[in-house]
Amino acid sequence: MSETWIILGASSAMARALARSLAADGHELLLCGRDADDLARDAADLRLRGAALAEVMAFDTRDPDSFAPIIARAEAAGGVVNVAVFAGSMPPQEAVESDPALLDGVVTDNFAAAARFLLHIAPLMESRGAGSVVGVGSVAGDRGRIGNYVYGAAKAGFHTFLSGHRNRMARKGVHVMTVKPGFVDTAMTWGLEGMFLVASPSDVARDIRKGLRKKRNVIYTPIFWTLIMLIIRMIPERIFKKLQI
Ligand SMILES: NC(=O)c1ccc[n+]([C@@H]2O[C@H](COP(=O)([O-])OP(=O)(O)OC[C@H]3O[C@@H](n4cnc5c(N)ncnc54)[C@H](OP(=O)(O)O)[C@@H]3O)[C@@H](O)[C@H]2O)c1
Repeated sequence: MSETWIILGASSAMARALARSLAADGHELLLCGRDADDLARDAADLRLRGAALAEVMAFDTRDPDSFAPIIARAEAAGGVVNVAVFAGSMPPQEAVESDPALLDGVVTDNFAAAARFLLHIAPLMESRGAGSVVGVGSVAGDRGRIGNYVYGAAKAGFHTFLSGHRNRMARKGVHVMTVKPGFVDTAMTWGLEGMFLVASPSDVARDIRKGLRKKRNVIYTPIFWTLIMLIIRMIPERIFKKLQI
């Protein structure tokens, strides 16, 4: 049976790496994002790499009207429908503190838009009785830190949504996997200070493919973040509130 992958935020370096891996296996790809020209170049490349189909579709987290055409296109493709969510934004915490109105956009980009899209497409995925959702959250969602707790709170909301969505969709044969990357070398982190153990986008894509094969529910990528975040989550609040991490 054919498999269509809807990739939301397809211009993310991690999304591009996953798309290359999926193309090599002959999947059908819908590259969804804001920059059509940029994604069209990717689509041409992905077809050469083996994608059965690679099409560009407009997607803007701030424009819910952009969601329905993507869902309709996936429905028309037939077969199994999969969704990978990479879209997200991370303005500096200080910028949000200076202008709290920015919070709405952070919540929309990292949580609300993806959750809304996934709720819209859920009946289609359920009707096909198979498929996967890959939701990219972040280790930042595991604990609110002084440096980026607005972004972290949005990711935490997305994690909780995905947990419930997994609970719902598993009953109809749909696998929902939460992906929590640590630091990854992408446009989002370019020039940021204090990063360590930085992974490449292809490392993340490889871990996602592995997690999908093994039907994992939640993965940290690279895997050592499982231990780092276990320790960070265990630090008592009275100590954590004094830390600058
Ligand atoms: N890099 C890291 O260290 C790291 C760590 C943990 C989690 N993450 C998460 O990983 C995901 C991918 O991020 P990345 O690191 O690859 O950074 P990125 O290159 O900045 O990717 C972010 C993606 O989100 C898209 N996006 C932003 N605002 C959007 C909007 N209003 N509508 C539609 N798309 C929008 C961007 O599209 P445009 O190209 O149009 O801007 C881009 O495709 C994000 O969810 C991020 O939070 C990243």
